[in-house]
Amino acid sequence: MSKINAAITGIHAWVPDYILTNKELETMVDTTEEWIMSRTGIKERHILKGKEQGTSVLGTKAVEGLLKKTNTAPDEVDLVICATATPDMLFPATATIISDLVGIKNAFSFDLNAACSGFLFALETGRRYVESGQYKKVIIVGADKMSAITDYTDRTTCVLFGDAGGAVLLEPTTENLGIIDSALYSDGFGRNYLYQKAGGSVRPPTHETVDAREHYIYQEGQAVFKFAVTKMADVSVEIMKKNNLTSDDIAYLVPHQANMRIVDATARRMGLEKEKVMINIERYGNTTNGTIPLCLYEWASKLKKGDNLILSAFGGGFTWGSIYLKWAIDGV
Ligand code: UT7
Repeated sequence: MSKINAAITGIHAWVPDYILTNKELETMVDTTEEWIMSRTGIKERHILKGKEQGTSVLGTKAVEGLLKKTNTAPDEVDLVICATATPDMLFPATATIISDLVGIKNAFSFDLNAACSGFLFALETGRRYVESGQYKKVIIVGADKMSAITDYTDRTTCVLFGDAGGAVLLEPTTENLGIIDSALYSDGFGRNYLYQKAGGSVRPPTHETVDAREHYIYQEGQAVFKFAVTKMADVSVEIMKKNNLTSDDIAYLVPHQANMRIVDATARRMGLEKEKVMINIERYGNTTNGTIPLCLYEWASKLKKGDNLILSAFGGGFTWGSIYLKWAIDGV
């Protein structure tokens, strides 16, 4: 019997309407458009406004679009994995909420949290279910309402993040397409540099934790930057070498969009010119688990069956990794 591979057979993404510009941020904290652009490459980000609007809104819109586009009935879906660092609630899993809202009733659904690398970790997990032969339609969602944990009085973090959701459908193929290889890593020492201090079981919410603004992202930017720049480039080169790929063989690098400078350094180490790098950080900022599916969604019409893509990410934990896949569909 020929080997079953897991291929992406559909993609959709969604961002909310409200656009938070660098100009508006200038009125909120002591910053400048010039600083934000030169240090991060971000011009604007989309923000989900309104009461009781959580990450499931972003994920649900993405999955609804995905089902429609791929002509998939909700009851055909076997599994939904939602990669998120900003679940609607600590429990139940946001994946179960999304499944309920789109009418997926015959599947099991769970969340996976690996911060900004979560979409890649979830893709690798979903891949293995498909490769087992037991699961035929697996949806991987990457969604984050980062504005829910962003401190809009802290200029060092509030300029970085935005809200977005994306989703892909994974299906089996016996062609030499789909997810070919992966290299994923984590190192818990990174927990000292990028985290949300309170709200979990170590520091449950109290008046004190709220007063001390401990329910927001805390990041030591420079320390994270140094690690991110090295690890994301290292792992991208590692997966190229392991699969005997030269820069000429690669159609696109699909990088997590945390900082333009990190993306540039990774592309340089891989020997890729800018045209081969998916970059949309300017319009969305860092949407954590949303960045990679949002890039794939925006570039999908340019992709051809058989194109070699390298997906790379770095995030809190620390977590990082790369996935090598052969695009399985012409256009979308
Ligand atoms: O996605 C998950 C992983 N996260 C990342 O990969 C993010 C990695 N880190 C970064 O992208 C960068 O470190 C940042 C964009 C967060 C910061 O850029 P930086 O070049 O490392 O700046 P810095 O933290 O060294 O700060 C330089 C200066 C400081 O002022 P002094 O001490 O030199 O006077 C900051 O206080 O810039 C100041 N600063 C700002 N100034 C204007 C920090 N934030 C701002 C701001 N506007 N928004």
